[in-house]
Amino acid sequence: MLRCPLVVGNWKMNGLIETAQDLVDRVQAGISDREGRQRMCEVVVCPPYTALHTINSRLGESALKLGGQNMGVEVEGAFTGEVSGIMLRNCGCRYVILGHSERRALFGETDEMVSWKVKSAFRDGLNPIVCVGEELAERERGETLQVVERQFLAVLPSLPESPAKRPALVLAYEPVWAIGTGKTATPAQVQEVHHYLRGLLKKHLPDTADKVRILYGGSIKPSNAAEILAQEDVDGGLIGGAALNANDFLDIVDAIPDLT
Ligand code: PGA
Repeated sequence: MLRCPLVVGNWKMNGLIETAQDLVDRVQAGISDREGRQRMCEVVVCPPYTALHTINSRLGESALKLGGQNMGVEVEGAFTGEVSGIMLRNCGCRYVILGHSERRALFGETDEMVSWKVKSAFRDGLNPIVCVGEELAERERGETLQVVERQFLAVLPSLPESPAKRPALVLAYEPVWAIGTGKTATPAQVQEVHHYLRGLLKKHLPDTADKVRILYGGSIKPSNAAEILAQEDVDGGLIGGAALNANDFLDIVDAIPDLT
């Protein structure tokens, strides 16, 4: 199999310690029930920073992995309010979501800042999940592919020189108009953008293009997961709202097509 499917739960700013523990316990129990009979698939949850340490100590040897929702660029120092990649690693994270559209729209993250963070994530040994996606007005103007290309090209210089390290990169196509709105892109719209991104990978990173996973995110739920995840260039999902309900999240994991 070329790429191991990946399902990531982005909890956003939800979950006090107790509720986060309860949610992760349910997800973890579901994942361990599926071990052995589950199709080959990697599953990651990204709780808020404040719950990471507690959750990590509950995960033990579980197959479920942890990720951060953002990170600072620097390693340490006078950067009030920032959390570094090393700190995320210290809490057990292996992944980090970067350039989420909420970070871009609400916290002023530019393509350049996302690129710095991608470089830092590789430096700190984290697998970056880089989000790209167009706003509704951009789609209506027919600019979708240009927007995702611009966002992708911005991070290209931050990837490691060594082709062997590049497959740690994960891309997530998240049309902004589909996030948290209940509006999902059609499977054909998803496949068109994923295919385009795969083409960009082939053009710019020919050695690793087939190894980089491209996730779709935006109102994925149990009822629409199977048809989206079945698209040829879709390697998994980045799940927001539905990741806050263990049964829904596990149903989405179960919707990964059987590639074995
Ligand atoms: P959603 O969020 O599934 O609630 O649309 C996805 C995301 O923001 O990553």
